[in-house]
Amino acid sequence: MHWDNPLRGGDGHIAVGRVATLGTSPRIDARSIAGTADTWGRTASGDHPAAGQASNVSSDAAPLPLLADPDRSGLVDGLGRHIDYLRISVTDRCNFRCTYCIGEHPAFLPKSEVLTLGEIDRIASTFVALGVRRLRLTGGEPLVRRGIVGLVASLARHLKSGDLDEITMTTNGALLGHFAGSLAEAGLRRINVSLDTLDHDTFARVSRFGSLDDVLTGLQAAHRAGLTVRLNCVVQAGINDRSIDELMMFAHGRGMDLALIETMPIGRASGERPDRYMPLGLVRADLEKRWTLVDLPDRTFGPARYVRVRETGGRVGFITPISHGFCEGCNRVRLTCDGRLTLCLGRDGSVDLKPVLRASAGDEAIRAAIAAAVAQKPQRHGFDLSHADRGGVSHSMHGTGG
Ligand SMILES: C[S@@+](CC[C@H](N)C(=O)[O-])C[C@H]1O[C@@H](n2cnc3c(N)ncnc32)[C@H](O)[C@@H]1O
Ligand code: SF4
Repeated sequence: MHWDNPLRGGDGHIAVGRVATLGTSPRIDARSIAGTADTWGRTASGDHPAAGQASNVSSDAAPLPLLADPDRSGLVDGLGRHIDYLRISVTDRCNFRCTYCIGEHPAFLPKSEVLTLGEIDRIASTFVALGVRRLRLTGGEPLVRRGIVGLVASLARHLKSGDLDEITMTTNGALLGHFAGSLAEAGLRRINVSLDTLDHDTFARVSRFGSLDDVLTGLQAAHRAGLTVRLNCVVQAGINDRSIDELMMFAHGRGMDLALIETMPIGRASGERPDRYMPLGLVRADLEKRWTLVDLPDRTFGPARYVRVRETGGRVGFITPISHGFCEGCNRVRLTCDGRLTLCLGRDGSVDLKPVLRASAGDEAIRAAIAAAVAQKPQRHGFDLSHADRGGVSHSMHGTGG
């Protein structure tokens, strides 16, 4: 099966057959989706979950994960929030240089400071023993870390024992063509793939180093491997805010959710980031001119607020750290690739677990350090809700793990 970019003809130019232009905003006829699903996903052969009926693609997709039982025991912060989700940055390195995430010439950590895969496994397993039910591997780009499949396979023992519900990954997708099959075999079921645009030039501009074709190949491999995929799209004013329809139809035509994300003022990125901030309320209002968005119950693990798009049957999530806080239900902490526990993405400050880890043979000291750190989790992020580039934090997104 071959997954071409649906917006491109064979000559590499954008195919405009299905896209009518209304002002500067592309306008897409929702009725054309079912017809285009054939072309995009070869759904007529029935080899894709969307199977030719884009109107109910996501009713077959995985249900939104429910909040875990609030009565359970486990890690609890000082405000009574249950921490059952650990995101792990396995490397601060990346094969892209996305303008909102990283500078063009970043200084990466020396390898000696980065945790070994064995150390990551040890800390993650200690979190599992303390009650964490979900792990997400991220970065930097997790797929550039050598041995990443082995790490997933090793952590999957906690899935088999029933102590862990899920291991997931966030990736830019460029190397999924190589790894999707082995990741699925190792125990991964769901992944988030970051994709901001289907336009080659815009993709190159935003990612600086990336190739859209590699990501499309990666998505195809993920599909073949049976992975459930959510696309993550950082919406930037004047870059991709006018082409969300295409991305949504691309996602929903293949049974994928689409999550839209506001830019956050984290780390040193390109100087244009402040001007590119786009409150997602505006994006939603624009989508509502052409699509029927039905709010879904507010019962997700994460910060995304989902709607179902009646015309496609698919889901769109809105992640709005700046325009709407989501701290009251926060259930997560982050482990950086050099062993620091970051309690809030939107606050500087972390607890260094590496010395404890390297000084102790048993896990008791690590457990105590984790529990003490979690008790100090801040009440809310420090971003200025009036604007995306105020209240910024200096730790990097690629090192901390988005
Ligand atoms: C830091 S990346 C790491 C994983 C992988 N390299 C990727 O891009 O998916 C994780 C997520 O953070 C998002 N991200 C990066 N910088 C951001 C920023 N300043 N504001 C909002 N989201 C950001 C990316 O788009 C991606 O979806
Ligand atoms: S968003 Fe992901 S892919 Fe882009 S530079 Fe950051 S870590 Fe790399």
